[in-house]
Amino acid sequence: MCGIVGYLGPKNPKDIIVSGLKKLEYRGYDSAGVAILDQGKTKRVRAQGKLKALEDKLQHEKFDGHIGIGHTRWATHGKPSERNAHPHQVRGINLVHNGIIENYLDIREELLAQGADITSDTDSELVAHLIANEVDQTKDLFKAVENTLDKLRGAFSILVMWEQEPDRLVAFKDGPPLVVGLGEKEVFVASDVQALIQYTKKFVYLEDREVASIKGSDVQFFSANGFPIQKKIVELNWNPEMVEKQGYAHYMLKEIYEQPRAVAAAIEPHVNPETFTVALKNIGFGGQPVQKLEELDSKTDWAKTQEVFKGIERVFIIACGTSNYAGMVGKYLIEQLAKVPVEVDIASEFRYRNPVIPPKTLVLTISQSGETADTLAAIRMAKEMGATTLSICNVRNSTIDREAHGHLYMNSGPEIGVASTKAFTSTMAVLNCLAIAMGRSRGVMNEANEKDLVRSLLAVPSQMEGVLAYDKYFEEAASKLKLFRGFLYMGRGTSYPIAMEGALKLKELAYMHAEGYAAGEMKHGPLALIDERMAIVMVAPTDHLYEKTISNLEEARARGGKVISIGTGDNEKLRSISEYYLAIPQAHWTVSAILTVIPLQLMSYHLASNLGYDVDQPRNLAKSVTVE
Ligand code: M6R
Repeated sequence: MCGIVGYLGPKNPKDIIVSGLKKLEYRGYDSAGVAILDQGKTKRVRAQGKLKALEDKLQHEKFDGHIGIGHTRWATHGKPSERNAHPHQVRGINLVHNGIIENYLDIREELLAQGADITSDTDSELVAHLIANEVDQTKDLFKAVENTLDKLRGAFSILVMWEQEPDRLVAFKDGPPLVVGLGEKEVFVASDVQALIQYTKKFVYLEDREVASIKGSDVQFFSANGFPIQKKIVELNWNPEMVEKQGYAHYMLKEIYEQPRAVAAAIEPHVNPETFTVALKNIGFGGQPVQKLEELDSKTDWAKTQEVFKGIERVFIIACGTSNYAGMVGKYLIEQLAKVPVEVDIASEFRYRNPVIPPKTLVLTISQSGETADTLAAIRMAKEMGATTLSICNVRNSTIDREAHGHLYMNSGPEIGVASTKAFTSTMAVLNCLAIAMGRSRGVMNEANEKDLVRSLLAVPSQMEGVLAYDKYFEEAASKLKLFRGFLYMGRGTSYPIAMEGALKLKELAYMHAEGYAAGEMKHGPLALIDERMAIVMVAPTDHLYEKTISNLEEARARGGKVISIGTGDNEKLRSISEYYLAIPQAHWTVSAILTVIPLQLMSYHLASNLGYDVDQPRNLAKSVTVE
């Protein structure tokens, strides 16, 4: 979950690497460092803490070379400290690494027996030693890396330079993502295109066990066992402004406010606003690599998709964190609208519990980053077991996107805040499209019903604008939350996953204890927690479960709990029994979760930011979880 940047070209590597690392800081932020050629030697500067500490150190540093690598770290082996920060340097070899070397203990022992001078507690430094040993023999960085790969086990990516070959970078991926950016007489390497989008729009995505050998501005690709391979250049249409804060205090706030646009972009390819029908666009079932999706014939593709939907008898939804809560909303939607049984699984559980995947199963994975290690492992396993797989990702061409049989996109644009917001609401919008499409394909939903559901969905972006307009009330409610000892978020139906998501947002941003519960479960244990210092956040839109939710709320209130409620319109009842009542507009149950989550996101945001916490980069977390 670390961030890697490398540069080889005529410009100043320091500025490019630091600006790239800033865009990647979401991947890890406990230490950072660079190694850049200067007067024929690699000068290394590292600092513990956020990137700012490195920037301060680099302020007066000058480098005359044109090659360099940089890293921002999320600690796995070895605590956050300067000595454990990357790049690791061994006899002119400089290396940055993302991921885990599983056999590091054996390697360490072997190196120590050979008398190696190991200066950090990381697994990464050991790889630098192995490459340095090889390069002593081969005098060729590419060969040295190649010879080293067989000795390493785990999921990892590396980028290496050697001061004896000052015009070469070698990159290898087997797990965490790496892209090569192609510029005019310059080449970049990074963990994510966000780091490079201001310099180039042309990218080559490394697949697992592929090596990029960059010499000057020439880039060649090889399999790990040394065979040359042809790679496709992907041109992205992102613009650099998409990854800037644009005047907002935090990325997270910007991303919360972008949600109406993001949801509109998520449904736009699939929904016809004139006929109020859904036809999923270019899913690509049939095994085509994602790069060709745009070239698919939409009509035949849709027919093929409908065939797949008709044939399935079960759906598994697999994801982690917030994406998993979106998946839980998907369960309600798909079961109700398409009448297929759905199981939702946390990826890290699914992959290790020997799941039974019957024939005719569709495995749907959800991942904003498309790189989450457990979700990736789950989709690989599902494929091996014969399931048809479909992914919903935000980052196109990410590993999960590339590996799935079928592809849907959140279309949210880059999400940089570590706490996921717009990817969550966009996913719920896509899941609405998917459930409607499945229902129609399977003949269990009539045309009139489809039209009603599509009308509700099309109304959501402007309803979201309406909710955002009440931000000052959410901020006011947030100002009181810090007085509480703990929080119980509750809801029923699709409001249950929203309660879980609300609690997660509070935990990860404000570091306060919060739990999300199905409201009907309160009397089976959690009611015992309630007293006047426990806040109850009740998600109670006016739907078929409203009356039951109110009964649960009364039970909690009777035990002294203080209530913050989210309901529909001007709800006198909720207003009268709540310390704070936050309203969303009337909406069909299939879309109300997209609206009820907004007050929860904003309350957590304001609380954390008023407490002075780093909203975009909460402690101990990283945006892209590429280790299990
Ligand atoms: O990229 P993914 O959607 O696969 O990420 C999954 C989780 O790591 C992610 O949703 C995480 O829970 C967020 N930080 C929550 O805000």
